[in-house]
Amino acid sequence: MNPSLKSFNTFGIQAHAKRIAVVESAQELLTAWNDAANNGQPAILVGEGSNILFLKDFAGTVIVNRLKGIEVTEQEDSWLLHVGAGENWHQLVEKTLQQGMAGLENLALIPGCVGSSPIQNIGAYGVEIKQICQYVDCIDLTNGQEVRLENEQCQFGYRDSIFKQADYKHYAIIAVGLRLAKKWQPILTYGSLNQLDPQSVTAQQVFDSVCEMRTSKLPDPKVNGNAGSFFKNPVITAKEAKDLFIHYPNAPHYPQADGKVKLAAGWLIDQCQLKGHRIGGAAVHRQQALVLINEGNASSEDIVALAHYVRQQVGQKFNVWLEPEVRFIGDKQEVSALETIA
Ligand code: FAD
Ligand code: EPU
Repeated sequence: MNPSLKSFNTFGIQAHAKRIAVVESAQELLTAWNDAANNGQPAILVGEGSNILFLKDFAGTVIVNRLKGIEVTEQEDSWLLHVGAGENWHQLVEKTLQQGMAGLENLALIPGCVGSSPIQNIGAYGVEIKQICQYVDCIDLTNGQEVRLENEQCQFGYRDSIFKQADYKHYAIIAVGLRLAKKWQPILTYGSLNQLDPQSVTAQQVFDSVCEMRTSKLPDPKVNGNAGSFFKNPVITAKEAKDLFIHYPNAPHYPQADGKVKLAAGWLIDQCQLKGHRIGGAAVHRQQALVLINEGNASSEDIVALAHYVRQQVGQKFNVWLEPEVRFIGDKQEVSALETIA
């Protein structure tokens, strides 16, 4: 019997792999990768499986990154953290706060590993990892060489980085360098964080507010499987935005530095009255329409069918075509999520 991947993906999809290799060092990771290659089998690397959808059984090795270790170097104006890729992100946020190192509080409760955080440049409540990340250490799996990419080389964008490009998919992230400035400045720009007093607020209070907001609308994967926002917030041109606002003046939107406009995909889905809409065991979350949930025994087909339906409804109503944020894994490798649901 092939091992189950159910506890290795937060959607809770029942799929199997030929082998699951939990690795605790760069050497173990490389060995697992090479073993699969020598057996003519595919391999993929995962962290905590909180941004993936297994479409099928995986015909090879799923390598689970559990490279641990947190090293802190104190400098005059900052703390430099060198963090193993398999550390849990939220635990890192908690530990740094407890030790008086503020700066990660807006990113509290984001599931997943530290090593996955640069891949889609995780972001929430006005902060993205690109503002804190100094470097990303990788192994080039084609030759076993270690490579360090400095912040500017990572090409961070909204839910994007160089690690999503085809040429970098054979890079395994093994550690991330973060810089936390000692002179802490609260970032209170997003949502109801602006009700906090910037003069007196503490990092712990920001952390608590973020945790409260998140738990009130995002489903707990332990209760209902999910992978967070299923789609990215669409970014449209200023002209397209102007046309849309004629009909929908209340549409939430965020002007971008390049003149484009980001829309709230959750609002667009909500306007199509899709909250609670079900296909098989998959449903649109009632508290946050951008999240698709596994209500019980959803298959990946149920989730794909629901994502297709949601995209069509939003596209037909607004002429805005949503793109998945979640990464889709086929039987041998990652496949195009957009083509799968189109
Ligand atoms: P996985 O899902 O395991 O992997 C993601 C991708 O990275 C896969 O393609 C995998 O092959 C690749 N990968 C994994 N590890 C490595 C490695 N070491 N080297 C190279 N490639 C690797 N995201 C946000 O940005 N903001 C949020 O607010 C947010 N909220 C969420 C809330 C919930 C309830 C959930 C379930 C998810 C949320 N997410 C959010 C998405 C998710 O938490 C992030 O994308 C996270 O960084 C994924 O980490 P992971 O370890 O689970 O990655
Ligand atoms: N909205 C609705 N109905 C809904 C959902 C949202 O009207 O069902 C409206 C809200 O009222 C608000 C706007 O849409 O005016 C934005 O909603 P929210 O603040 O909940 O954030 P989001 O844009 O839906 C993004 C990220 C989240 C991140 C939050 C907070 C993306 C794809 N998602 O969600 O990240 O936590 O902002 O910063 O950018 C993730 O990536 O998995 C994720 C959860």
